[in-house]
Amino acid sequence: MCGIIGYIGGKQAYPILIEGLHKLEYKGYDSAGIAVQGPDSLKIIKTKGKVSHLEEKAGEGFPVGFAGFGHLRWATHGAPSEINAHPQKACSDDFALVHNGIIENYLSLRRWLESEGHRFVSETDTEVIAHLIEHYYRGDLLESVQEAIKKVTGSFALIAGYRDEKDRLVCARKDLPLMIGLGGEENFISSDLAALLPHTRKIHILEDGETALVTASAVKIYNTDCTVLQRKAQEITWDVTSAEKGGYEHFMRKEIMEQPQALRETMRGRLLEGGRKINLAELDFAPEEIEKISKIFIVACGTAYHAGLVGKYLLEKILRIPVEVDVASEFRYRDPLLCADTLVIVISQSGETADTLAALRLARERGQQVLAITNVVGSSVAREADKVFFTWAGPEIAVASTKAYLTQLFSLYLLTFYLAQERGAMEQIELQKAGEALYNLPDQVEEILNREKEIPGIASYLSRWESAFFIGRNLDFAVALEGALKLKEISYIHAEAYAAGELKHGALALIVEGIPVVALAIQETVLEKSLSNIKEIKARGGYVFCFAREGMEALASEVDSIFYLPSTLDDIFLPMLAVIPLQFLAYYTAVARGCPVDNPRNLTKSVTVE
Ligand code: M6R
Repeated sequence: MCGIIGYIGGKQAYPILIEGLHKLEYKGYDSAGIAVQGPDSLKIIKTKGKVSHLEEKAGEGFPVGFAGFGHLRWATHGAPSEINAHPQKACSDDFALVHNGIIENYLSLRRWLESEGHRFVSETDTEVIAHLIEHYYRGDLLESVQEAIKKVTGSFALIAGYRDEKDRLVCARKDLPLMIGLGGEENFISSDLAALLPHTRKIHILEDGETALVTASAVKIYNTDCTVLQRKAQEITWDVTSAEKGGYEHFMRKEIMEQPQALRETMRGRLLEGGRKINLAELDFAPEEIEKISKIFIVACGTAYHAGLVGKYLLEKILRIPVEVDVASEFRYRDPLLCADTLVIVISQSGETADTLAALRLARERGQQVLAITNVVGSSVAREADKVFFTWAGPEIAVASTKAYLTQLFSLYLLTFYLAQERGAMEQIELQKAGEALYNLPDQVEEILNREKEIPGIASYLSRWESAFFIGRNLDFAVALEGALKLKEISYIHAEAYAAGELKHGALALIVEGIPVVALAIQETVLEKSLSNIKEIKARGGYVFCFAREGMEALASEVDSIFYLPSTLDDIFLPMLAVIPLQFLAYYTAVARGCPVDNPRNLTKSVTVE
């Protein structure tokens, strides 16, 4: 996610802002910028690339001033570039702001502002807010910010400044973190505690909808009605390292916990009216293009491939279109039978995976239309695909993919139901139910996250073995594959995922007394069959950890431990919940074995070699 830092006080702002940006670098970003309130102008410096480039650009004679703000951008609207970097300005150079988040209605606002005479220079959604502030300015920056944010829908954490009000900064938040650090005769603003803790431990955490007027000596916080609030600052006791990880010991656990928010970003502007309508106009499909799709290929690697396997099941079940899923490195060399009216979907968190990119290029050379599902704006995959669906998970730092996987799944569900909506492949009422289920999913994910403490006991048993099995049928098998990959990559336990019905064709020979078997028995249609497979394992001494749904209590007496998923959702959505305890299982097992969770041996986050 992007990072924000602001300063106002008696010292030169520039070195403090640069130091703050360095503190935010761990989050991942593609461009950087600062604005300093000089004696008679707002001086802005920005660049594509690293903070060190920004420092080189500023040179020795850095901009002088006692207030300012800086930003690290993780591109959403518009590729990484100097012009799209923040701060963004309005028509005059006098208003500027930095912003984290996504403005959903930026296109309509931009059209309206253009009709009012505003001129836009960037591709960003952020620039719209700068122009709105300028538009509503009547001599008071705070009031114009409060007016501007009433007009936007979406998420934001922002700091705004105006040349003629150098003694103040105005900030606001909705759905994204923003906090103010109190430092006596100076104050600090940031989206991230890690950037504030070197200066102060007295922090005001803004709530949704609040705005704040920050001067060197005072902070005034206002609610949505613009009434001043009386609130005491909190005393924060975390150290900087745990602040970077949101108080968690590892990025992986932080990213697991971020999943509800990541899903809310994925659905933003796409699931409308509480889920009753799916809007993927961003993909710019003509109705006849959608109508004539007769075959789909999904191509990806690793975890993204596992997301594709869930996608196959879903697309075939809902659309009744044949879907093939390929590991990208195989797709390329097997001379795939691509034909007219085939849609190729590539999935890649990083958008830079060499095998996936090579597969994408092959498909395009063969004249196929390629739709990319990716998390990184400006990545090679995003640039080269015909259509792009961004997952909006925010930067994922741990090598083991968690929130990226879940948002890939969610994207595939959105895409499937959108295509069903456009092809008339589902009854309206069923479609609405599906949309509502997706809309409510982040809450259900939160409920599963709250049950984290059910997992370390299982992990402790697992951590003492060098080998484990994961079994499941249909969608459960796709999730089992992901669970096993997570476990092996971070705990170094040899974990094999098997289609439950296949065990008896060979691997059953490996079931010995006590060996851990993670059995997913969630899909109701194959419950009887899954139960038979579990019995086969138990009869040979296997130790079975079962993941089932409420209402399947009969399973409890057949297994050694059981975790129930809620029965409120249709089976088809459950992979998005079932994967969460498996992520925790891998995490706690790796921790129990003392493994370097975030950076497992021999692996990198983005595999750019074939
Ligand atoms: O960036 P990508 O999604 O293209 O990466 C694909 C795989 O390398 C990646 O999912 C890998 O399997 C993860 N480390 C798994 O956690």
